[in-house]
Parts: sequence; structure tokens; C-alpha cells
Amino acid sequence: MNTKHKIIFGNSMSMAEIPVESIHLIITSPPYFNAPFDYKDLFKNYEQYLGVLKKMAKEAYRVLQKGRIFALNIDDMLVNGEKYPITADAIKIFQSVGFRYRDKIVWKKPDGYLRISKRSGVLLQNPYPMYFYPDNLLESIIIFQKGKFNYRSISKEIREKSKIDKKEFQNNNWHKTIWEMTNVLPGSKLEKGVAAFPDELPYRLIKLFSYVGDTVLDPFVGSGTTMKVANHLGRNSIGIEIIRDLESVIRKKVNSDNLEVIERNQGKYRFVTLDYIENKKKVV
Ligand SMILES: C[S@@+](CC[C@H](N)C(=O)[O-])C[C@H]1O[C@@H](n2cnc3c(N)ncnc32)[C@H](O)[C@@H]1O
Repeated sequence: MNTKHKIIFGNSMSMAEIPVESIHLIITSPPYFNAPFDYKDLFKNYEQYLGVLKKMAKEAYRVLQKGRIFALNIDDMLVNGEKYPITADAIKIFQSVGFRYRDKIVWKKPDGYLRISKRSGVLLQNPYPMYFYPDNLLESIIIFQKGKFNYRSISKEIREKSKIDKKEFQNNNWHKTIWEMTNVLPGSKLEKGVAAFPDELPYRLIKLFSYVGDTVLDPFVGSGTTMKVANHLGRNSIGIEIIRDLESVIRKKVNSDNLEVIERNQGKYRFVTLDYIENKKKVV
């Protein structure tokens, strides 16, 4: 199927290029506040971070078709010993702009995944009460919906073309609220410096929540994983990304002849460079 793909380089607090109710599914993973490994000191404070999420959520609500889904991959974040309740705050923010909170799926990474930190080692060094700091293997995927979906709005032909393989659904445990998926392995070249999610995450969501020919949006597109999978599954895609340097990575991942690039005149917002993300030092 000939699908169309578009990257908008700019800040997803505005989605001015995207018409009202033109998007069928949104999948995204925003930066997790000032995550120590990936986004240290990116935001001045937590309020500023929540402000970005709110503006993005408002725009997402505007561009999403009635009845459709926004799947938000997010998690609480430990910064300098304080745990920030990002998941709960994001749910409140999404509800405040009009979304229905429909489901929460927990993404469990393999037991060997300990990229963040081996906090539990503290107890091994001090095997006494009060030294317990668990290692986190989980992230959330929050499912929001804009009103109710009209199942009759889809033609028979498109329904059949988009049919879900029942064996895949059952054998791979898609039906549970826990999804066991392997994370992107450290050292993966294309995803360097971007906290990418694995292909499997948008793969399940696109199959479960969109039809062939639909348009999938990722407002924090990073290396372009959502766009890549959308292309494979016969869906159109739009990605928004603030790091201008990621174009070549996204191009490689999406691998489509039909890829349009829009570079927004940033106005009051600034681009962030990959150098900033990697070396935590410079914003241009
Ligand atoms: C967690 S990563 C997303 C990774 C993506 N899911 C992937 O698989 O590659 C978040 C991305 O959002 C981008 N970003 C941060 N703030 C942004 C904003 N306000 N507007 C657009 N993109 C933003 C970051 O540069 C980063 O690439």
C-alpha cells in the first residue's frame, strides 16, 4: 500500500500544520521530565514540564478524530532521589483537556533490564530494614479516548484488511494488561541518544487501534519508530520532533519514498541539538 509520511521539525506544543480531526491514532513517549540518563536538566522545573504536556495534549485533542485513541507511554521518574508522579499528573492533564481515561497497560521489560540503576544493591550492602530501593522494570502505556468510536463508520473492506490475527493476539498475550516486551538494547546505533521504544510497542497499538489507510501521529517522534511501524502496517504517519539533527535517522528508519519534511520557523521556541541531549550542555 502506498502510504504518506511527514516529519515536522518543531515543538509539539503546537500542531498548527495538522488540520482538526485529521488523525486516527496518536502514539507517543514524551521525555520523562529530567530523566537522569536521557534528559538531565532539560526542563527548568516540573511545572514547566507539565505545561508542555498540557499544551501538547490540547493540540492532540484538536487533531484527533472523534472516538479515536491516544496511547501515551510514560512513567514516573526518579530525579535526585525524588519520585515525580508523572503518570498520575498526565492522566489528570489529559482528562482536563477532554480525553476519557480508558485503560492502563503495564510494559514489563525483561528481568535482566537494568539500564536505569541497580538501586536494590543498596540493600545487599546494608541488609537491614529501610535500605530497600527496588529496581524498576516497568513503564505505563495509558490509553485515552476522544469520546466514543462509531464502529459503523468503517467500510467492510477496510475492516477485513485490518483484521487482527487471533493467534498473535492470544499467543503473545496482547489480551492482558501486562505486556512483556524487550526494550531497545543499549548500543543500538540508530537510537543512540534517543530513549526509543521497541518496534513491538507501536506494532501492537497500531494493529489494535487503527485501520489500514489511517494516519498515525507521534508528537515526540524521536528516531521515528512509530512512523517506521506505521509504514510497515499500511498506515500513513506524521511525526513531530524538536531535534533537527534526527532527520537522517528518521529517514533511515521510515524508509519510504513518500516522506515529506517540514521545518517550522521556530519563532519563540528553540530547536534542541542532539549534542545537548548527548552532552547535556548546549541549547541553540
Ligand atoms: C522518549 S523520546 C521518543 C523516542 C521515540 N519513541 C523513538 O522510538 O525513537 C522523546 C523525543 O521527544 C523529543 N522532544 C522533546 N520535547 C519535545 C517537544 N516539545 N516537541 C517535539 N519533540 C520533543 C525529544 O527530542 C526526543 O527525541
